[in-house]
Amino acid sequence: MLDYAKIIRQYKTPCYVYDINILLKRVNYLKEKFGSKYDLVYAVKANTFIVKYLSDVVSRFEICSPGEYDICDKLNINPQKMVISGVYKDEKTIIKIFKRHPDILKYTIESITQYELLSNLAKKYKQPIHLLPRVTSGNQFGITKEQLFNLIQNNDNNYVIIDGIEYFSGTQKHSLKRLEKEVDYLIDLIDKIKKELQFDIKEIEFGTGLPVYYYQGEEFNEDEFLDNFKKILDKIKNKKVTLEIGRSIAANCGFYLTKVVDMKTNDYGNFVICDGGINHLVYYGQTMGMKIPYYDLFPIKKDILDTAIYNLCGSLCTTNDFLVKNITTRKLNIGDTFIFKNVGAYSSTEAISLFLSRDLPQIIIYDGKDYKIVRDIFKTSILNFPNNI
Ligand SMILES: Cc1ncc(COP(=O)(O)O)c(C=O)c1O
Repeated sequence: MLDYAKIIRQYKTPCYVYDINILLKRVNYLKEKFGSKYDLVYAVKANTFIVKYLSDVVSRFEICSPGEYDICDKLNINPQKMVISGVYKDEKTIIKIFKRHPDILKYTIESITQYELLSNLAKKYKQPIHLLPRVTSGNQFGITKEQLFNLIQNNDNNYVIIDGIEYFSGTQKHSLKRLEKEVDYLIDLIDKIKKELQFDIKEIEFGTGLPVYYYQGEEFNEDEFLDNFKKILDKIKNKKVTLEIGRSIAANCGFYLTKVVDMKTNDYGNFVICDGGINHLVYYGQTMGMKIPYYDLFPIKKDILDTAIYNLCGSLCTTNDFLVKNITTRKLNIGDTFIFKNVGAYSSTEAISLFLSRDLPQIIIYDGKDYKIVRDIFKTSILNFPNNI
């Protein structure tokens, strides 16, 4: 349990705190739910700051850019756990990876261009590589079924071993029906490949896009959802199945603290200005503050008599910067702190953090005993400054 008083005393708001106990509990929960037949792959994009803590508890890391690779490399992630993925792979980076980590576990390929790039480099550097071609779900990602068939038939490069396929069609999938349709599609595909090409797809890396329920009032029986999803997955027989997950692993370990710095009332309501806003906080898409996320308010007060309705705004120059609209809380004061929960996935990586040249928040890790800053406040004015003029 986080000690809000201590965090607020020792650190500056806005800040993120990632609770590693919660993270590890979450991973255990997912492992228990899916059982030992299914391996977890952590999609690094969801939160790069928790990667190290996952290094012994997940089987793989999905790395989608040169930057994500550098982060994992610096954190000494075992290359036998690295899956080099991403829609754009450039020659320079691949050569760098070949030289630095010849024992990378697998590469995905997202296009025929990528196949040719990797295949030619594998031959040139005499570097055996294991591939998971990504099958498209109807967007810019992956290759078509026909391209996959051609690739399997025509891959005559001894350095290139096609192990299986990767499939990811989107995040926040609430529908078991949709997930079942995807699993059926994959089963059908690997059956066809076996029948028509006599080729055995050994493994499927499946991006499940498991949902996180962020808002108060939404009902979700996760136990039941995951039990049913596992039954669906169990339809895949005699294949290694790895589950590529970001959001559902990372979300609930994260907390975002932002302080009330100003308050005003006009004909349109009570407005509260916080020192952080949508430049740091992303749940899923734009909600315009219409939904109420899970949060705590510090100082915690018992026996609340007076409540009021507020619009919580951030510190950006945009009318979109609503954290929450029409929230009923105890009467607020300047200096109160909101602690938003479930912000461990995508907030620190996906929010519009360069807007208005506001500082990037401190990032604090809590390991159950100590708090430590893993990224200090960073001035975005440095990044937004035009050098050499
Ligand atoms: C290829 C791939 N795999 C996995 C993920 C993680 O998805 P989620 O965070 O919904 O688990 C993403 C997210 O964009 C992705 O693009």
